[in-house]
Amino acid sequence: MPRFPASGLLQKKSAGEKITCLTAYDAFTSNVLEDAGLDIILVGDSLGNVVLGYPDTRQVTIEDMIRHTAAVRRGARNSFITADLPYFTVSSGTDQIKKDSLSLINQAGADAVKIEGVFDLEAIKELAALGINVMGHLGYLPQSCSRPALTGRDAESAKKLGEEALLLQQAGVFAIVLELVEENTASAISKSLNIPTIGIGSGKDCDGQVLVTNDIAGLTFGKVPGFAKKYDDLGNRLKACVKSFVSDVKRSS
Ligand code: KIV
Repeated sequence: MPRFPASGLLQKKSAGEKITCLTAYDAFTSNVLEDAGLDIILVGDSLGNVVLGYPDTRQVTIEDMIRHTAAVRRGARNSFITADLPYFTVSSGTDQIKKDSLSLINQAGADAVKIEGVFDLEAIKELAALGINVMGHLGYLPQSCSRPALTGRDAESAKKLGEEALLLQQAGVFAIVLELVEENTASAISKSLNIPTIGIGSGKDCDGQVLVTNDIAGLTFGKVPGFAKKYDDLGNRLKACVKSFVSDVKRSS
């Protein structure tokens, strides 16, 4: 069962304290995030594009998620860790969702699982009834569509998102990621819920913010999404470091 309860995150919302969340896929990075004082470490299935070199998240397997979540836990013993349920799991029905959630919690050491969309509210209710912390994810859903697009721009889609958020809250999730949700819509949803929203590209009024660590550190292959502030350029710094090694070795021959 989870090591850490999600109640501290609910208290942060009540206290008006913003929640911080970044991704990690390995022990070194999770150790850095823990030392820096993050509230949540997310082992996202962005593992697929960011680390494993896939074009999107769909090919990530539960075995990948278990291996990388366990590594993240080894690097961050005292952090609240949330692990994504991969596409295959989410599209395989309630029993598979329950089985894989229990593996991520009991075998890999996650405190919570994240599930995209409202496709299986029954599974979310059953997980919550088992005492498993579940994080929801609305707006742009990378497992369903590989092209990012802003959601909740018109009244109809804003209403739909608001209704889905309420359904997730009723089903028992402890927080909801809002990805690429128009900022006024995200703000209204955040105000309507008792549980915290964690925004990514959804404006400043969400109860917390999540980004991909590699994006903010400049450790990516390609273009970084416009909403992700790049705080450093570690990819190029690593290249310079490798070039120095290469020239040192060549000079010594
Ligand atoms: O997989 C992931 O990294 C995510 C975040 C972008 C929210 O789901």
